[in-house]
This record gives sequence, structure tokens and C-alpha cells, in this order.
Amino acid sequence: MEITSGPPPACLADFAGLARTVLPPHVWDYVDGGSGAEVTLGGNRSALDRVGVLPRVLTGVTTPTLRTRLLGRDYAMPVGVAPMAYQRLVHPDGEPALAAAARAADVPYLASILGSTPIEQVTATGAEVWFQLYWLRHRSLVADLLTRVRAAGCRALVVTVDVPVLGRRLRDLRNAFRLPPELVPPNLPGGRDDLAHGGTPGVTPLSAPHDAPFAPALGWADLRWLRERCDLPLVVKGILDPADAVRAVNAGAQAVVVSNHGGRQLDGAPASATMLPEVVAAVGERCEVLLDSGIRSGVDVLRALALGADGVLVGRPMLWALAAGGQAAASTALSLLADELRDALALAGCADPAAARALRTVPVG
Ligand code: FNR
Ligand code: LAC
Repeated sequence: MEITSGPPPACLADFAGLARTVLPPHVWDYVDGGSGAEVTLGGNRSALDRVGVLPRVLTGVTTPTLRTRLLGRDYAMPVGVAPMAYQRLVHPDGEPALAAAARAADVPYLASILGSTPIEQVTATGAEVWFQLYWLRHRSLVADLLTRVRAAGCRALVVTVDVPVLGRRLRDLRNAFRLPPELVPPNLPGGRDDLAHGGTPGVTPLSAPHDAPFAPALGWADLRWLRERCDLPLVVKGILDPADAVRAVNAGAQAVVVSNHGGRQLDGAPASATMLPEVVAAVGERCEVLLDSGIRSGVDVLRALALGADGVLVGRPMLWALAAGGQAAASTALSLLADELRDALALAGCADPAAARALRTVPVG
């Protein structure tokens, strides 16, 4: 599964081709796919592609710094690894390999509650781990998990709010995609393994109505409850509406992630880059604003910064790299992204990410 031949990857997209050759088609589809007609999935890219960043010249900048403060800590660049479920699906080294790559790159690693490795083994890599939570059916289960996450040394809590039910992923339905039985989610109470993506149309683990531990009816009061009993920074992921961003901040969020889940939830939702400026206008003074969905290059990070983001999360490209070559390839992907961002900042005349947030954007075409 390691990269053995061919030209070295020159950008993150190159890892997609490599991953496609090593992954079974149904796993590739699970990672690559979106919901419905995949209009939102495509829109994430086209919206970013339309964002032109007006460069400033003769600013005297040669070597920009990428260092960025997020949630009160310094990181090497304004980029985090997005939370993604079941990373052992794409490579046997799974979550610890991606977390170790994040650690080496000095960026945060967001660990999904649906990870395929116990959270303690993820934090043991020394990475700065932000734990991502899907709401559990009983507050007592959430409370127990919080204790565990706190003890494991996680630095922040990320509540994902755009999955009241799982989006209709047509590729998964057509492939009758199921997780291999050995892939259990050990961060869930009892390591429940009945939460796999079901092959029955419309029936998925996150929407399974009866005894699955997930609670679709998460509300703002739950967030306030969580805020009161957890002293970690709270991040709300999956915001598109600026009014929801205001509600999230009022409920105690230190950051919001403007995201449509990489086009995997509501097909027809707007691109997250399209909504970003409005969210920044609504809450940018009161909390940090991160963006994900479609980020593929350093130029995309520059675009997000110019639209007002404090940072971005990168999803699928990290799984492509993990699939293609484990931790080493994931490290290469993060180095490429840093190199690209450094060049993009220099070309735009910016000494640092903060300067990029003052750039003007105009349509490319
Ligand atoms: C995800 N995403 C996700 N988000 C989350 O909060 N918890 C999760 O467990 C998962 N799982 C997951 C699995 C896979 C295979 C993918 C591709 C994505 C969504 C993820 O965090 C992020 O929002 C998007 O992936 C960002 O879009 P890009 O960068 O993949 O286009
Ligand atoms: C996904 C879920 C698990 O996007 O968040 O596949």
C-alpha cells in the first residue's frame, strides 16, 4: 500500500489518483461521494474556483510565516485535519497514522467519534487532538464520553450539527456499502458495531431510530448544557446560516466550522465558501470561523482567508494520502499544502495569514 512507483505527488489532487488505484471501489465511493445528485459536492469546488484573490505587489514580503493561533494555541498553519470516520477503512494504520502526520506538521487533528481506533491511542501520538462528537441519545453517555475525552488529553470539543440523519449517499446505497465487521467504533459506548452504514435504502446508522446511541434531535439547549459541563473550547461544525452561527456563539461556541460536510449531507445546500462571508460578518468578531468542504490546495486556503476565515479543515485529501502511503504520504500532503500556502501568500504580497484576511476578492472570470 506504500507509494512505490510513478512521479512524486506534486499537489493534493495527485493523491486521489493513487488512492483510487489502491482502494476497493466501494471504499473509494464512500470517501469520494456526496449525497443525492452531488450538486453540493461539485458546488464546493466551483464556488472556490470562482473566488479570485486580488494580489498586492511590492509589499517586500519574501518568506511569509504561516503560524496561526486557533482556540488559544499556536499551530504551524491555519489548517486542521477534518474529522473523518473509520480511517482504518482506507489504511491499516488508520487514525494514529494521520494523527502522527498532523503532529509532525504541527496542525490539529480532529478525531471523529466514529474513529476506528480508541481515542487514547490517537492522543498518544502527541498530536493536538480535537474530539468530534455526534450527539448521543442520553446525556449520561455524553457526560461519560466527555470524561474519557478529557482524560485522554483532547484539546477541544467539536460538535457536528449537520447530521440529524445521514445524507442519502446514492453510491453507498447502490454499492450496498457496509463496514467490514471487524471495524468497530471503539469510542462509542460499548464499541457498538451496529452503526455501520446500512445497505438498506434510507436506513443508516445515524438515523436508525430505536436503540442506536445517536440522538438526531440535538437542540441548542443541549449545546448550552454541554458548554456548562465541559471546560474545553467548543466548536460547532456544520453551520451554513449566519443566524445559526449567532445561535452557536450565544450557546457558548468559541468557533464555528462553516461546512456542508463535504457535500455529503443536504444535497442542494450552498457551497460553504459562498456562505462564509455572511457568517464572518455575523460572528467574526465574537468567535473563530473555520471553513471546510472542497479545500484542495494552498490557494484554496488563501481564498478562505481572503473571504474572512481564520482557518480551514481539509477532509478527503488526507484520506487519499493515507490510503496511498500511510503516515509518510499524509506528511507529504501536509508539507505540500504548507509549501503551496507559503507561495500563495508570497504571491499575494502577504506576510502572514492575518494579512490575507485583508485581501479583496473578486470573481476570477
Ligand atoms: C467525513 N466528515 C465527517 N465529519 C464529521 O464531523 N464526523 C465524521 O465522522 C465525518 N466522517 C467523514 C467521513 C468521510 C469519509 C468524509 C469524506 C467526510 C466530513 C468532514 O469532516 C468534512 O466536513 C468534509 O470532508 C470536508 O470536505 P472535503 O475537504 O472532504 O471536501
Ligand atoms: C460521513 C459521516 C460518518 O460523512 O459523518 O460519512
